[in-house]
Formats: sequence, C-alpha cells, structure tokens
Amino acid sequence: MPPVELRIGLIGCGTVGSAFAASFVDRKSSLEQLTGKRLRLARVAVLRPHLRDPRLAPAPLTGDAAALAADPTIDIVVEASGAPNAAEWLRAALDRGAAVVTANKQALARDTTLLAALAARESRLHCEGAVAAAVPIVRALRESLAGEEIHALRGVLNGTTTYVLGRLEQQRPFADAVSDAQREGFAERDPSDDLSGADAAAKLAILCSIAWREPVTLDRVHVRGIDATVSETIAAARENGGRVRLVASAQRNGHLYASVEPQVLDGADPLASGTGAHNVVEVRTALAGTLTWHGAGAGGRSTASALLADTLAAARTLGRARPAAYPAGALR
Ligand SMILES: NC(=O)c1ccc[n+]([C@@H]2O[C@H](COP(=O)([O-])OP(=O)(O)OC[C@H]3O[C@@H](n4cnc5c(N)ncnc54)[C@H](OP(=O)(O)O)[C@@H]3O)[C@@H](O)[C@H]2O)c1
Repeated sequence: MPPVELRIGLIGCGTVGSAFAASFVDRKSSLEQLTGKRLRLARVAVLRPHLRDPRLAPAPLTGDAAALAADPTIDIVVEASGAPNAAEWLRAALDRGAAVVTANKQALARDTTLLAALAARESRLHCEGAVAAAVPIVRALRESLAGEEIHALRGVLNGTTTYVLGRLEQQRPFADAVSDAQREGFAERDPSDDLSGADAAAKLAILCSIAWREPVTLDRVHVRGIDATVSETIAAARENGGRVRLVASAQRNGHLYASVEPQVLDGADPLASGTGAHNVVEVRTALAGTLTWHGAGAGGRSTASALLADTLAAARTLGRARPAAYPAGALR
C-alpha cells in the first residue's frame, strides 16, 4: 500500500513562515521517513499574494487564509501570520478535524475556545512556537511533566524588554534604548505589545492553561510593563548586584495568581542571566523539583524549528482516534 499523503497548508510566509517553508523543503525526506507518511506543502496563504513571484513561492499562493483553513483537503494547517482574526481560522480547521500548528500567541490567548482546547491538551492543537520559540516548554508541560503537580512557573519570555533593560543598564535613555532595539531587530516598529507586557502575558496565559489544565484568560493575568521610570529601579538594583527583568510568573496554591511585571532579581538568579532574545523558563514541580529551560526565544529559524517539530507530531497522530478530551462542540 502506498504511504498516506498529508497535505499541509501554510498561513503566513514572512519571517517565521518562510523559515518554516525553507526548512520543511530541506528536511522533507527525513520528516517523511520519521512519520512514515508523504508530506506535501500544498498551499500558502499570504496577505498580498499579488506582490510575490509565484515561481519563487514554496507552493501555490492564495490570499484567502479562511478558505485554506476550511479546505477539507488540507490535513495540517500551519499558521504563522499573526493576523488578528487567525483564531477563527484555527477553530475552523480544528472543527473539521484537521491538525493545527501555530506560532500565534495572541490568537490563542485571546480566544477562550482555543485556551480551553489547550487546557484539555487537545492532541491536534500544537503551539510550541508561540512561547519561547524552540525552547521546548510547551511539550515539557504537555508531555514530560504530564504526571506532575505544577506548583509554580516563572520566566523571562519577551526578548524586546530584555534587550531594552540591558541597554538601560548601560545608562541609555529609555527612548534611545527602544530605538536601538528597533534598529537591531529586537523590536517591532510598534513595540507597545512588548513594552506593555501584553506579549509576555499572552505567553503566560498559554503556559498556565496547559500547566493547570484550565483556560486561563488574559484578564486573570495582572500586567505591568516597562517605561522610562524603570531606569531608577535598575540603578538601585545595580548597587546591590541585582538586575531588572520583565518576569512572567504564576503559582497555584488553592487559587491561581499570574502576573507580568518588572522585578528586581538577584544577579545569580537564572532569570537574570539572559540578554536580548534569550528566554528563560523555570517550572517548580512536586516530584521533579525545579527545572529550567533557556535559549533563543525568537527569530525565524528558532521558531521554524518548533513549527517543524509540531508538524511532525501532528503528522504522526493524524489518523489516530481522537480522544474525547473536551466537551463535544466546544470548538464550534
Ligand atoms: N518573528 C519571530 O521571531 C516570532 C517568534 C515567535 C512567534 N512569532 C509569531 O509568528 C507569527 C508570524 O510572525 P512573523 O514575524 O513571521 O510576521 P511577519 O514577518 O510580519 O509575516 C507575517 C506573514 O503573514 C501574512 N499575513 C498577515 N496577515 C494575513 C492574512 N490576513 N491572511 C494571510 N496571510 C497574512 C503576511 O503576508 P504578506 O507577506 O503578504 O504581508 C506575511 O507573510 C506571529 O504570530 C508572531 O507573533 C514570531
């Protein structure tokens, strides 16, 4: 019998999506060997297909991401668009039985149905790339620590603020530190999601929902970002050998408390160690004690690595019986 062919639809072909497409093409034969299935990048949706040369595209292009997500011939939807309405596409794909791989933290964290699916460990919804790029914290919480009781987690999950805080440590004025971050590619043209803490809050909501198997919506995360006033805190911290980082933390002791805020950390704290896009995540568990992961938390290639691993996981599980993990109709 010829191997099953799985058709992949990619939504978004920018920094992350194009790195995914290139590495998928490079590694296609080894991915096929690992899954025992034929894998085909069947279609790519972008916002402005008319601006692209179709001969250079990794697959036929479309401007209609919703139609790609709803297409019954697409088995795996890989979403790397950051589009504000991406959650609708992800839900539509899951509802029709497809697997979904996404790097889009805001789409997940702002959508209660998707958070509920994460909390229920829906086996067709994969999102390693949405938190700390290839640092395997989502898989660790979902699989390696599945039998554990998670007491607390905390992390430095936003590279822009780490970069800006590092520049402030060198006594750069706040506005200059933000411009440096933009020039060096550590910040978007509009860095407000990063500086306000909204980006880290979305990642924390995802991790909490998985860790504690309940949808943790963004309104449950207390958020305080950084602004020019943080320079004073940095100066005071430095006198005592401390560093300031935007720390996302959560603990559940009867009830859940989750926050994102600038904190003064001891210089020896693992969360104080990174600079730039370096992310750190620490998880405190009942049996395994405290575990720490760290590595590049952004960038096209690191995020593509997470999307590839998730695509592989999706390809392996597709075709198996779907566990009744969450109430029927919850994804409609
Ligand atoms: N960059 C990183 O380091 C990083 C790391 C982790 C996670 N992420 C997440 O990955 C996602 C993508 O980020 P990125 O940096 O790759 O963004 P990007 O470079 O701006 O690329 C976005 C891509 O999505 C397409 N797109 C936007 N709106 C669309 C729509 N309505 N329909 C179809 N396609 C649409 C764009 O099409 P056009 O090319 O036609 O404009 C572009 O190809 C975001 O959710 C981001 O948060 C990024």
